[in-house]
Amino acid sequence: MGFKHYFSKDEDKRAKFIFNLIAPVYYLIDKATNKNYKEMAALLNNQIPLKGKDVLDVGCGTGSWITSLANYKLKNATGSDFSQRMILQASENNKQINCVLQKDNSLNVFPDKSFHLVTATFVLHGMKSEKRYELLLEMKRLAKDYVVIHDFYKGSSPMVSLLEFLERSDYINFKKCFKTEMSQMFSETFIVEGENGNALYVGRL
Ligand SMILES: C[S@@+](CC[C@H](N)C(=O)[O-])C[C@H]1O[C@@H](n2cnc3c(N)ncnc32)[C@H](O)[C@@H]1O
Repeated sequence: MGFKHYFSKDEDKRAKFIFNLIAPVYYLIDKATNKNYKEMAALLNNQIPLKGKDVLDVGCGTGSWITSLANYKLKNATGSDFSQRMILQASENNKQINCVLQKDNSLNVFPDKSFHLVTATFVLHGMKSEKRYELLLEMKRLAKDYVVIHDFYKGSSPMVSLLEFLERSDYINFKKCFKTEMSQMFSETFIVEGENGNALYVGRL
């Protein structure tokens, strides 16, 4: 994938290009987020006991979030991503995770209601609301019990704002609209606020 994809109007091409490019140094971001992911996983486990659950993490990247959840004795932990280089890192780093490379951005390799819980961490803020809606709908199709989105909620540091600007993400709009988008998709939703301005947006099936 050439550098021209950074300027592509196609959001997926742009995201694949960016994440394939930064995959070799993504461990630096993992180091910075590791503690927060463990805290958020503990908060999630308090709300929804994870033991014995089948969990899919969409856009798992190098696998940090699904690995934090796997500490709670999941029955099966699966991560999927459309960036070949990110999913390669995930499979090298975490042998207990089933790693799936999504072809054509599609999750249709999985039948309906394949997982108790379907989650995504810092994925949905990256896309415009139309794509976000499509992905959320697909996550809802795959879930038996819950969809959990771990993402931005309140203020962000200047460094995060700069990175999101470079990524050309939709995070400002996401913070304004996502709570409403979730409640339009699920009949029951709640939010678990963490530190650092992040939250778990939970939709119950
Ligand atoms: C900011 S990274 C977060 C990675 C990981 N969830 C974490 O928190 O460490 C976003 C990830 O989502 C992936 N991604 C973005 N849109 C996607 C889509 N539609 N389907 C699958 N993966 C996607 C990217 O390839 C990238 O690995």
